[in-house]
Amino acid sequence: MKPEIIKISQISPDQSVVCILGKDIIPESIRLSKAEKEYSLKQLRAGEKSVFINSYFKCTYLVKVKEGSEIFRTKEELRKAASGLKKLIKDNNHTELVITSDKVYKEAVEDFTEGLLLSFYSFDKYKTREDEDDKKNYPSKLLLYCDSGKTELKWLNDLTDAVYFARDLINEPVNHLNTAVLASEIQKAGKNAGFKVEVLNKGKIEALKMGGLLAVNKGSVDPPAFCILEWNPAKPVNRKPLILVGKGIVYDTGGLNIKTDNYMSQMKSDMAGAATVTSVFYTVARNKIPLHLIGLIPITDNRPGGNAYTQGDIITMFNKMTVEVGNTDAEGRLILADAISYASKYKPELIIDIATLTGSAAMTFSNQAIAMMTNADKKYISLLEDCGNLVYERVAQLPFWEEYSEMIKSTVADIRNIGGREAGAITAGKFLERFTEFPLIHLDIAGTGILKKDDHYRIKEGPGSGVRLLSTFLKQLAAGYKKMN
Ligand code: BES
Ligand code: ZN
Ligand code: ZN
Repeated sequence: MKPEIIKISQISPDQSVVCILGKDIIPESIRLSKAEKEYSLKQLRAGEKSVFINSYFKCTYLVKVKEGSEIFRTKEELRKAASGLKKLIKDNNHTELVITSDKVYKEAVEDFTEGLLLSFYSFDKYKTREDEDDKKNYPSKLLLYCDSGKTELKWLNDLTDAVYFARDLINEPVNHLNTAVLASEIQKAGKNAGFKVEVLNKGKIEALKMGGLLAVNKGSVDPPAFCILEWNPAKPVNRKPLILVGKGIVYDTGGLNIKTDNYMSQMKSDMAGAATVTSVFYTVARNKIPLHLIGLIPITDNRPGGNAYTQGDIITMFNKMTVEVGNTDAEGRLILADAISYASKYKPELIIDIATLTGSAAMTFSNQAIAMMTNADKKYISLLEDCGNLVYERVAQLPFWEEYSEMIKSTVADIRNIGGREAGAITAGKFLERFTEFPLIHLDIAGTGILKKDDHYRIKEGPGSGVRLLSTFLKQLAAGYKKMN
């Protein structure tokens, strides 16, 4: 369970507290004995980043922030400091914990709390026995003593809820989260947050002739689904909608080009893009961001069963283009391409797709950056880069030169679904670009969306990559429009 966030107006002397410090000075609100104070100051002056004082009736955690670095680095330092303290906090078994700060920047308490909340996440719903670790608990209430307003704290609460939700979906194995279950989870999220969700079933997908989604689905016993999400507030600040597209492969075996060795092990999470899009809608709708948004989520598993699609197949896509299948494991781009061309009917301002698309993106950036490929206006790119730094879900741009399209030419169809071994992330992006006339930002989260081990508060397998990035981007985009109008 995620702890509740409550704003408080005073700290009582017996409450356990985390205090973030910018200077080696302990504020009046933190009650310590003379000896405890002297000890703390000595530790801080010696360069300790955090000091823990276990008094008889409460615990005090002092966290020192380095002065003078760029603000976005300091923000991340605080999130990481929070994750560094999670074990100690759990061991102390608090029911409530106060978080406050002194002489640091305004959002310090928010950032620390965010890091703490994201670190507390665990996926343990299928555990039926308690182990040693389960006997201690994280605090169920975080009491914030700070200047942040109601709107900011609501945002923090909804955003961290959204990341938890994305992680839950990403962690569910396919025997519990198949196509139908994912579609119904998206519907539930819509009801809960107030955005519309329409689910197209197989019959409708066939009628629309979404050849990419249908081809990938051929080896599966479960029918595909195509979810259309819509958030259309009363007075949107954008005239043409923004579109988010998420890859919803509930399991990627590779299909007939089956994944060997250990490459299949984490492929229950190949729907991370779909989870991210749903979670972004959740945050945007809950906070009534005044933007008209459409979400498109094609869903299926990729399996080698029965009449599975094969190498050499030629598929006719939703937009009537033909694709030669060079490899059945390059399935993500096929389902996304149908969604991206379907987006044209909305005449969008911008399309953003997010997907665990290529091993190549992970090889290039590891888990440090989301690979971005785009032909969109610079104003969107620089805003996305800024937001990436701010929330520390950084985006790094790959070249998107026309020459790369040469690599996905086909001799028998309009295009081929693989290039060569080289520039794999870019050729996948180039493939998607061919399916729309509208500006596209393609985000490949293969490196950041599925992790092999915990990266501080980004948890193994389910970091929820892109939720904080895109939610913040849309919030700021809306604020920017408001100013212009
Ligand atoms: N879902 C995978 C990409 C992936 C790999 C995501 C590792 C996360 C971690 C995708 O469908 C895939 O299999 N891509 C192939 C494409 C290749 C056949 C052109 C890849 O990257 O190897
Ligand atoms: Zn694949
Ligand atoms: Zn895949």
